Amino acid sequence: MPQLIVVKRDGEEQEITGQAGLSVMEVIRDAGIDEVLALCGGCCSCATCHVHVDPEFAPKLTPMGEDENDLLDSSSDRDATSRLSCQIEFTDALDGLRVRIAEED
Ligand code: FES
Repeated sequence: MPQLIVVKRDGEEQEITGQAGLSVMEVIRDAGIDEVLALCGGCCSCATCHVHVDPEFAPKLTPMGEDENDLLDSSSDRDATSRLSCQIEFTDALDGLRVRIAEED
């Protein structure tokens, strides 16, 4: 199963094994990391699952939708690496993906 590396807000890194087919948000949540609130449960309406993704993996990610782009605009911590983790499908091709949890808005 693919590995996901999560960098928490205090800089601590945690490597977790994720199930392909879940979203990155679900993989993080299922590992018990509570910094990703995911208040809307993954339906792309809250932006509390905001992460920064290693740019190396950008071409392999599920492309960003218009809703996701609009929601990210509401975040003060948005940059070129920002994604909503509920909108990224975790796949075997993403093995070794590193995501950093965004600052709280
Ligand atoms: S969990 Fe709400 S937008 Fe991702």
